Amino acid sequence: KCSRIPQKTFPDSTLRLLMEGYMFIPNRCKKYKSDLFVTRIMGKKVVCMTGSDAAEIFYNNQLMTRKGALPKRIQKTLFGKNAIQTMDGISHRHRKRLFLSIMEIDKIEDLNRIMKKLWKSYAKTWSHNDTLILFDEAAAILCHGACIWSGIPIKKTDVKALAKDLTAMVDAFGAVGPRYYKGRLARIRTECKMKDIITKVRQQKIIVPYDSALFRIAFYRDPYGRLLDAKLAAIELINILRPITAIATYITFGALALYKYPRCKEKLVKGKLNYSHMFAQEIRRYFPFAPFLGAKVKNDFLYSKHYFKKGSLVFLDIYGSNHDRRIWEKPYRFNPSRFSFRDGNPYDFIPQGGGDLEKGHRCPGEWLTIMLLKTAMEFMAKNLSYNVPLQDLSYSLRRIPAIPKSRFIFNQIKYIP
Ligand code: HEM
Repeated sequence: KCSRIPQKTFPDSTLRLLMEGYMFIPNRCKKYKSDLFVTRIMGKKVVCMTGSDAAEIFYNNQLMTRKGALPKRIQKTLFGKNAIQTMDGISHRHRKRLFLSIMEIDKIEDLNRIMKKLWKSYAKTWSHNDTLILFDEAAAILCHGACIWSGIPIKKTDVKALAKDLTAMVDAFGAVGPRYYKGRLARIRTECKMKDIITKVRQQKIIVPYDSALFRIAFYRDPYGRLLDAKLAAIELINILRPITAIATYITFGALALYKYPRCKEKLVKGKLNYSHMFAQEIRRYFPFAPFLGAKVKNDFLYSKHYFKKGSLVFLDIYGSNHDRRIWEKPYRFNPSRFSFRDGNPYDFIPQGGGDLEKGHRCPGEWLTIMLLKTAMEFMAKNLSYNVPLQDLSYSLRRIPAIPKSRFIFNQIKYIP
């Protein structure tokens, strides 16, 4: 670490951030030989940090807050206004318990069973003459399963449109222009639909199991005993549906890995002990998804010879931390076996955030993501035979979120029972 923190007061780096995407923080940390640097984004001073020590600081609730850290444009597309991601303290913990109760182990096993059935039933409808886009098919399957599991009534014919809206919200988060507005419209449309469903559940016009996500969110009461406003309840329901559907991104990258590394596919087919778990973990580490996270300094403090002033914006580098040479040997090599003997901590492997699950903002859907990713990868390796036609499978680290350009086209599909 450097004793002097590189400060770039001018010019503003917003354009560089847009140009460099996932590599914006890693490039500068490498250049300055520092885990920290200060820059300006949209005119505001931002401290950017990378690595597990930085993650430990970032997830310290005494030092950091999320209040006012999330730009409005991200709330209008990716997360929704005033959702759990923007909360702090007791109200956050209370709301987090709601999400964790929805994600209990027997519940996520139920969801996994639903998904296994859906992969089979969708695959049976794919014919040898079809040419399909895996990202779209996976998103539809995940969205369909998420609706069944959550208790949301949906016709099969409406699944694709909802999946498209949910993926558009995610696709908007690093975008400017049409991609951003597509995400905003998708959010407005979906919040309307879900608000209507919440209202009907409350009026008992739709009856759902008491342990379903829909019921729990519709009847959740905050620490003051109040129901959530119907729109906010809709936003939190989307906070379940959208990220489950977003696992399609990891599945698409996973299919790319199966294609590029046939040895991994062989091991997956053989079903070697724990291999599918290691494969899923390496997909989450190696491929880009969340680029960085933002928080604000709650109380002044000194760290790594830098004075963090109350109210300053701080970015934690996710992509770079998952490729940090101090943690990962040959980080730019795809190697699932690195997960066979791993003695980690809550700050050194953070594709879905770090720190404490209950007290902090770490993603409550991590186990669910791993489980559904394993199911999809095992299904593709063992139960599908397919051809990968010529296409552009490259992906750019400048585009947030990253995705293979063709979104993985496959044909000559055969389901193997
Ligand atoms: C939070 C990533 C899947 C629900 C987060 C955070 C990240 C993340 C980076 C922020 C952590 C922070 O702010 O410190 C991902 C990725 C996923 C995924 C890459 C894979 C597709 C899921 C799933 C669910 C979910 C499947 C639920 C079914 C949430 C919620 C939060 C969150 C509710 C907010 C937690 C809080 O603020 O306390 N996720 N996630 N995520 N995720 Fe996920």
